Amino acid sequence: MHSFTQLVSDFAAYFNIEHFPAEPASLYQPGQYFLNIGGKRIRPVLCLMGNELFDTITPDAYHVATAIELFHNFTLIHDDIMDKAPLRRSMETVHTKFGENTALLAGDVMLIKAYDHINKVGKHIHKILHLFNKTASQVCEGQQLDMDFEKMASVGLPDYLRMIELKTSVLIASSLEMGAVLGGAGEGNARHLYEFGRNLGIAFQVQDDYLDAFGDPEKFGKQVGGDIVANKKTFLMIHALEVAPENEKARLLQLLEGNEEDKVEQVLTIFKNCGVDEWAIELKDKYLTSAYQHLEDIAVVSNRKKPLVELARFLVQREY
Ligand code: IPE
Ligand code: IPE
Ligand code: MG
Ligand code: MG
Ligand code: MG
Repeated sequence: MHSFTQLVSDFAAYFNIEHFPAEPASLYQPGQYFLNIGGKRIRPVLCLMGNELFDTITPDAYHVATAIELFHNFTLIHDDIMDKAPLRRSMETVHTKFGENTALLAGDVMLIKAYDHINKVGKHIHKILHLFNKTASQVCEGQQLDMDFEKMASVGLPDYLRMIELKTSVLIASSLEMGAVLGGAGEGNARHLYEFGRNLGIAFQVQDDYLDAFGDPEKFGKQVGGDIVANKKTFLMIHALEVAPENEKARLLQLLEGNEEDKVEQVLTIFKNCGVDEWAIELKDKYLTSAYQHLEDIAVVSNRKKPLVELARFLVQREY
């Protein structure tokens, strides 16, 4: 068995290569620039872990892990255009540095590159392609809902949860599941692993939303307060609108309407007054507990599950 940190470094050694041809540099360099910055590489590592839960890690698992990380990076490049984000991984976003049109194409060609790696898979290719495509469509659905919600005055918690499940947690879940399928897991085990990832993914996005508001700018690597500027309906906003006293709620709605200079600070003060800290911990704990329940239900010896527990703990406590 490999630890989480071991797999991160094994995957980095495999993945940190030139992924694109040299020419035209104006198309390929921006994508390579983005890949070179790094990132946590969580999803490919989850694929490897899902695989190792049932078998020794196969070359096919590395092909799928590579496709997953390329797909994820493609979604980030496009997400940063949609969210008007200036910073990612403590560096300039691709569209800020190279322009929106180039960022669109750099993302497109990265997605296509991801399929080249799927195409290298020997066994289970049809199942893998089906899972990959289903997940990719769901991510698009979630991203569209995320933008639709920006324009709505308020969004209910169940709708928010559905949206983050689609935009974030299904990819985490299916990364694990694809690894498991390649490892020859039975359907029941693969399903429980998927459910572990789905619940963990929700807790992961809750932490992401929390850090977007309260993260340490030095560590976070993204623009703190970006979700507030974009009127994102995060759980912080949803909770505040639900529990704030009338006057603060009215103020919050007013802030959402306009673009006052100190909007971020004002919204953060209201968030704090509403006890979002405790609410975040409660929400993460709830989904983490469900995740661990599904992990327990997987019929392999508990020793083999240790790296997943280690990774889950990191994901919900991370500061970046
Ligand atoms: C960012 O994902 C996008 C979300 C789903 C919140 P990560 O936090 O895994 O990003 P990197 O790859 O480590 O930069
Ligand atoms: C992004 O969610 C999810 C996808 C890229 C599919 P966010 O917009 O919250 O991610 P960050 O905060 O920009 O990483
Ligand atoms: Mg987004
Ligand atoms: Mg974003
Ligand atoms: Mg975010």
